[in-house]
Amino acid sequence: MCGIVGYIGNKKASNFLIEGLSKLEYRGYDSAGIAVINNGSVEIRKHKGRLSNLVEELENNSADGTIGIGHTRWATHGEPSDINSHPHQTSKGDITVVHNGIIENYNELTKWLKSEGYEFKSATDTEVIPNLIHYYYKGDLFEAVVKATENLEGSYALGVVCGQEPDKIVAVRKDSPLIVGIGNGESFIASDIPAVLNYTRDIYLLEDNEFVVLTNEGAKIFKANGERINKEIYKVTWNEDAAEKGGYDSFMLKEIHEQPKAIKDTMSGRVSLNEKINLGDFKLTAEELEEIDRIYIIACGTAYNAGLIGKVAIEDLARIPVEVAIASEFRYRNPIVTKKTLIVTLSQSGETADTLAVLRDAKKIGAKTLAITNVVGSSISREADNVIYTMAGPEIAVASTKAYTTQTVVMNLLGMYLADLKGMLKSEDEIEIKKALLELPNKIEEVLEKKPQIAEIAKIIAQEKDLFYLGRDVDYALAIEGALKIKEIAYIHSEAYAGGELKHGTIALIEPGTKIIALLTQTNLKDKMISNIREVKSRGAEIIGIAYEGQELDSSIFDEIIRIPQISTRIAPVLGAVVLQLLAYYVAKERGCDIDKPRNLAKSVTVE
Ligand code: M6R
Repeated sequence: MCGIVGYIGNKKASNFLIEGLSKLEYRGYDSAGIAVINNGSVEIRKHKGRLSNLVEELENNSADGTIGIGHTRWATHGEPSDINSHPHQTSKGDITVVHNGIIENYNELTKWLKSEGYEFKSATDTEVIPNLIHYYYKGDLFEAVVKATENLEGSYALGVVCGQEPDKIVAVRKDSPLIVGIGNGESFIASDIPAVLNYTRDIYLLEDNEFVVLTNEGAKIFKANGERINKEIYKVTWNEDAAEKGGYDSFMLKEIHEQPKAIKDTMSGRVSLNEKINLGDFKLTAEELEEIDRIYIIACGTAYNAGLIGKVAIEDLARIPVEVAIASEFRYRNPIVTKKTLIVTLSQSGETADTLAVLRDAKKIGAKTLAITNVVGSSISREADNVIYTMAGPEIAVASTKAYTTQTVVMNLLGMYLADLKGMLKSEDEIEIKKALLELPNKIEEVLEKKPQIAEIAKIIAQEKDLFYLGRDVDYALAIEGALKIKEIAYIHSEAYAGGELKHGTIALIEPGTKIIALLTQTNLKDKMISNIREVKSRGAEIIGIAYEGQELDSSIFDEIIRIPQISTRIAPVLGAVVLQLLAYYVAKERGCDIDKPRNLAKSVTVE
């Protein structure tokens, strides 16, 4: 996610801005920039790529001045490029902005501002902000920022400067983090505390819709109506490393907790109860869809597992045949790919070598291609005909968590979108899925409250050598992901089985004490699952069930039951996934594993 910083004091601002941005690198970024006020004019330096590119430029073309703002960008709208990098400036003056977050109504605002004579250079959502502030500017930057934010829908943390008021920075936050650091004769803003820790441990933690005006006299915090807010200083007592992880002991745990927000971002501007699913630039006509006779979802690892859920959603809703294929297998067989095939490449990083190779082969044949990825400007996003971004924000832990759940959400959106295009989306299905999706962030928060129970169960599982995950339908797809998660970070051999398959061989492995994680979210198959559980229970297995709150179960066949909130069975795997991620996390922790960097694994597999 983007990072922002700001400095006002009597030292050279660019020195802090670069250092502060380097402390925010962990958030992930693809470009960086700063704006400094020098003798009353705003000077901007910005570059695609690493922070070192910006540092190099500053060595040759320094930006002097003691007031400035800075930004590391993690692209969400528009590819990583110099032009799309922040800071962004109004086309009618020098009001200059850095922004972290997503402006959902930027299309409408852009249209309106264009009609008011503003020009746009970038493909970002951010560029509306300096233009909007300029539109309202009547000599008071604070007032103009307040008025501009009244028009913004979405999330933002903003740092704003302008040459006409060269002695201040105005900042504000809504649903994106922002802190204010109070130093000795200097003040700071930053997306996160590590950016300022070398300078101060005295922090104001801003709340949503709080505005701050930084001048040489310090930082004053206001409500939108101009009323002063007196905040208590928060004294930082912990170290930088802990801060980067937001107080969590690992990026994986942090990313598990980020899922409510990540899923909100995935759905932002795409799902609402009364409107059709909006997949942005991915627009097919009904005629084009009629041309498509099959879909392949191509992916690896966790993305493949999300694809399995996608297959169920698309086939069920849109009645189009879908095959999910492991990219490294698909590329070396002779699959039936024609001009009538839609190849969906599903990849968090957008750089996985095998997935990319399939995309390239498919394009040579003339198949239609759609990328679903998390990384804007990645190879897969650039080379596919169309792209849908999962908007999960950077995922740093090797074990995929929020990428998986946002992928499964996108899969359901795609299923509804295609079904609607074919005129076969039943309104009861549409309402059921949309309602469930919109409830999902809060329900994930409820699942996160199960941590103490899951941590206790993990103590027992941590002693195991083998583990089985059982489920049916999409629960089986989720079981595969649960088994992968615990393999990769806790190094326990684990297998997923479809409940009905046990009798065809696997049940021979069950002995007294074998631990089984049984998923029971598919209500129509509950009785079948219970029969499967009885089969293994009677052979001595110990069962940990994952079931809905209030679901009646014969407690004598379970050793533990982890309850998740009621939700549409189609969307339940997302809640189940959070349980299984937490289980893997706590088991790995019990076993003393390196959770964020499991042995032998890399985050992005860019070689065959
Ligand atoms: O970046 P991608 O989604 O293409 O990566 C695919 C797999 O390498 C990835 O999902 C991997 O399985 C994860 N580490 C699992 O947690």
